[in-house]
Amino acid sequence: MANVMQVELGDRSYPIYIGAGNLDKSELLTRHIKSKQVVVVTNETVAPLYLERVSRHLQDYQVETIVLSDGEQFKTLETLNIIFDALLAKKFSRNATLIALGGGVVGDLSGFAAACYQRGIPFIQIPTTLLSQVDSSVGGKTGVNHALGKNMLGAFYQPQSVIIDVDVLDTLDDRQLAAGVAEVIKYGLIRDASFFLWIESNIEKIMARDKMALTYIIEQSCQSKAEIVASDERESGIRAILNLGHTFGHAIEAGMGYGEYLHGEAVAIGTCQAAELSCELGWLSHTDVTRIKTLFQNAALPIKAPSSLSAETFLELMAVDKKNVDGDIRLILLKEIGEATLPVAVEQKQLLKVLNS
Ligand code: NAD
Ligand code: GLY
Repeated sequence: MANVMQVELGDRSYPIYIGAGNLDKSELLTRHIKSKQVVVVTNETVAPLYLERVSRHLQDYQVETIVLSDGEQFKTLETLNIIFDALLAKKFSRNATLIALGGGVVGDLSGFAAACYQRGIPFIQIPTTLLSQVDSSVGGKTGVNHALGKNMLGAFYQPQSVIIDVDVLDTLDDRQLAAGVAEVIKYGLIRDASFFLWIESNIEKIMARDKMALTYIIEQSCQSKAEIVASDERESGIRAILNLGHTFGHAIEAGMGYGEYLHGEAVAIGTCQAAELSCELGWLSHTDVTRIKTLFQNAALPIKAPSSLSAETFLELMAVDKKNVDGDIRLILLKEIGEATLPVAVEQKQLLKVLNS
């Protein structure tokens, strides 16, 4: 039996199914398809691994498959157009269902395509990386990058369901697994000190891909995300805490060239910078900063910003962030492990101290 949890959003509520072998459960997928026309969007890496297993459930539908190039550098408006061109060429209607099969890049792109096509068609998320299973497939943030800023174009658009199969992580490489763990650690840091402690105690099992440990962190992360999204879908308040480390991290991704640092790696570094700044402000102890850095290191994640990114470039890139107000950089920081702040405006002097350290 698949474990099911619900993202409670009134008439836009939806289930998240978590379990081993969910990809082979036909009914989990087809119960959320209300159309004859179905488009599956995936990429060149995921298609040979999992497309056939999903397509098998769709024999009674008119199916169009779109296989995109793989990589963060393809999360662009140009790639979005490939999806629109295919849907229009095949005369797909407004009730067609889009299935996003892949990691966060495929999910964010496809979700945005679904939000835009004929002003919105239903879509289903089948996330295949740890990062997308614990974060990006849940909550309805969709979009693409711009050369001047990460995720700068997009929409809030919720899926009909999220189908997570823990077994697909078997084919994910170690670097990508680690990138997903960065977002898992985030949930412990922002709102759940006991989960942080659990991750600290079980990090070896997680990195060794122990199935029970992986399932547990996916469930805990989805539960946390579902609760936050249910209380603040469009990020007018508490949802912002999910961006801990992301303002620094997005600057690293854009500044180094999309794809050079994985999103999770950039978030790990950014979270360490946020922890240092929180310590500067007198909130987090030095011991806790060390604890945080040690956990990221034990998860095979980087903790230091690339030296080629100057503080000036950092500042310029951080000035393009969705949390900024009237041009002021605002950051999510930590009061303690397990408690994040809402966005706080930080003095440039303090920010520069961390960026130059
Ligand atoms: P990704 O989508 O690039 O996937 C990572 C790599 O793994 C890719 O090469 C992909 O083809 C490959 N892959 C996917 N599934 C696989 C599998 N099962 N086996 C083998 N290889 C597989 O990266 P990601 O880390 O999944 O997602 C990062 C993206 O998610 C970023 O663009 C980030 O901005 C976005 N994101 C969005 C949200 C949100 O709320 N929407 C949250 C966090 C991150
Ligand atoms: N990943 C941040 C959010 O969904 O709000």
